[in-house]
Amino acid sequence: MNVLITGAAGFIGSHLSDKFISEGHRVTSLDNYLTGSPDNLEHLRNETRFKFIEQDITQPFTAADDIDLVMHFASPASPKDYLAHPMETMKAGSTGTRLTLELAREKKSRYLMASTSEIYGDPAVHPQGETYRGNVNTLSPRAVYDEAKRFSETICLTYYREFGLDVRIARIFNTYGERMQVNDGRVVPTFLTQALKDEPITVYGDGTQTRSLCYISDLVEGLYHLTTLEGLAGTVVNLGNPDELQIIEVANLIRQLTGSRSGIVFQPLPEDDPKRRCPDIIKAKRLLNWQPEVSINHGLEKTARYFERILNINKEE
Ligand SMILES: NC(=O)c1ccc[n+]([C@@H]2O[C@H](COP(=O)([O-])OP(=O)(O)OC[C@H]3O[C@@H](n4cnc5c(N)ncnc54)[C@H](O)[C@@H]3O)[C@@H](O)[C@H]2O)c1
Repeated sequence: MNVLITGAAGFIGSHLSDKFISEGHRVTSLDNYLTGSPDNLEHLRNETRFKFIEQDITQPFTAADDIDLVMHFASPASPKDYLAHPMETMKAGSTGTRLTLELAREKKSRYLMASTSEIYGDPAVHPQGETYRGNVNTLSPRAVYDEAKRFSETICLTYYREFGLDVRIARIFNTYGERMQVNDGRVVPTFLTQALKDEPITVYGDGTQTRSLCYISDLVEGLYHLTTLEGLAGTVVNLGNPDELQIIEVANLIRQLTGSRSGIVFQPLPEDDPKRRCPDIIKAKRLLNWQPEVSINHGLEKTARYFERILNINKEE
């Protein structure tokens, strides 16, 4: 299969590129390095089935080759990044989605959109199933991301209904692992960096708010099933790990796994920060025969080793 991945120099896109290459496919990747890095793709530099094109996907572009699958992952994703790039975020989810859908239509290819649990906002229903319509504050600064993704979902399903395009939508819940940016402000990189440096770990609120953390290899496996199985046109599915953890538990686990001497400091909760987040993955289990396999301890250990290397920290010293 010829696969085109936008946002391939980012965290998830680079792992997706690895997966499709390892399964024998050809990958064309597009990225403008807004929040990604060439380092994430360096290991694929000499791979003949891998091609990188520096491209802003909100600007018109064409692809010379045949394409069987378009995967649209280009967008700032961490709150720190999308609050720093509000216009770019709205354009990636609107113009970027429309242009990549047009490309899929022209190439008669399948299309996967990277949606997010953020479309559920601060959820009033728990856990969140795909039928839940969400609780997003359209006026909040965070809405640049949430609403761009909601628009993306709607335009994707419009292409499915109007043009019969084989569109699939993954609502991705918090995912972590190697190649996350050290300072992207998300919980795992932040806590790991602070713990490895023996600096205070900053917990917002009282730490009882929950997140469900999915290790990257589990997510990529789910995305692979979602894109390669037949008969899923028009499908919207949650992908995430339903094991719900309080933020304070994550902080303590990371302190323990890294042998850190860090204390914990508490700071006020950011505006519209969701208090509970947990995917209902019954649909993913049924349709994709998929569920996460990697334990939080194992996933965090692997991620900690990556951060030790990136931060040049030797805990044995
Ligand atoms: N990581 C998660 O937990 C998570 C959860 C839900 C959804 N997602 C979605 O998955 C996708 C990837 O997230 P990530 O965590 O890998 O983020 P990331 O920031 O690491 O990767 C995003 C990539 O998109 C690129 N990009 C942004 N705007 C672009 C543009 N206009 N043109 C070309 N490239 C552009 C960036 O340079 C970066 O390489 C995003 O669409 C995000 O919304 C991620």
